Amino acid sequence: MPEPSLLPAGADQPVLVFDSGIGGLTVLREARVLIPERRFVYVADDAGFPYGGWAEDVLRDHIVMLFGKLLRAYQPALCVVACNTAFTVAGAALRTVYPDTVFVGTVPAIKPAAERTRSGLVSVLATPGTVQRDYTRRLIQSFASRCQVRLVGSARLAQMAEAYIRGLPVPDEDIRTEIAACFVEDGAARTDIVVLGCTHYPFLSNVFRRLAPWPVDWLDPAEAIARHARSLLPLADHALHPDAADSAVLTGGEPDFATRRLMNSFGLAVAD
Ligand code: DGL
Repeated sequence: MPEPSLLPAGADQPVLVFDSGIGGLTVLREARVLIPERRFVYVADDAGFPYGGWAEDVLRDHIVMLFGKLLRAYQPALCVVACNTAFTVAGAALRTVYPDTVFVGTVPAIKPAAERTRSGLVSVLATPGTVQRDYTRRLIQSFASRCQVRLVGSARLAQMAEAYIRGLPVPDEDIRTEIAACFVEDGAARTDIVVLGCTHYPFLSNVFRRLAPWPVDWLDPAEAIARHARSLLPLADHALHPDAADSAVLTGGEPDFATRRLMNSFGLAVAD
């Protein structure tokens, strides 16, 4: 006989956090603080990583197909698509194809950057996919038309973040090269905000700060995304079920030792 549950109906449904790799962990760590009563399933589509160079329609179909399987397998209370590259191309399709699922998206934080900049010079550092998206251009037109926005697409930084977080050497010079175009001078004005438009990049933000030619605000949207997710879930009057454990699902199958250790260090048991 099943044990009688003390939780209200649906309270044992997890929050699913999705990214192509480790980037969504930057959102997961904020979400856990704000949503302590839920179990989390972290999904890294490492078989598809990096998303940055995929053709838009192929990536959209791939993500919609993958979510079909994930929703069936985990029946989440809510999904956080913690990946700019994925959400800017597939967010609308996910909401259309799975109308009963709540999706919280991640898009480059252009609006808050435009509100905060003093110099009017803002840069968006993201994957090549995200900087090419119509979605990103519409954000600029809608919220930052008075700013000078420089879009900087990096084909290598997400991989560098993957290496860095696993303790592998990433030469300063390589990172400096990738971020250099973010720094713009126009007369006396200089870039004062760089939007981290890829969830992988906050793992490198200390390195960015050290290598930047001048200090800027590196805008990480993780906390705002977590707050949004919190606002969409009912407030809980119950604690997390003592047997509940957060888990990581990797689409590539058996992860290597460094990946398993990394997931474990975030308190995630790697699902087989
Ligand atoms: N973390 C993803 C993002 O926020 C991108 C990494 C990739 O290229 O797959 O855009």
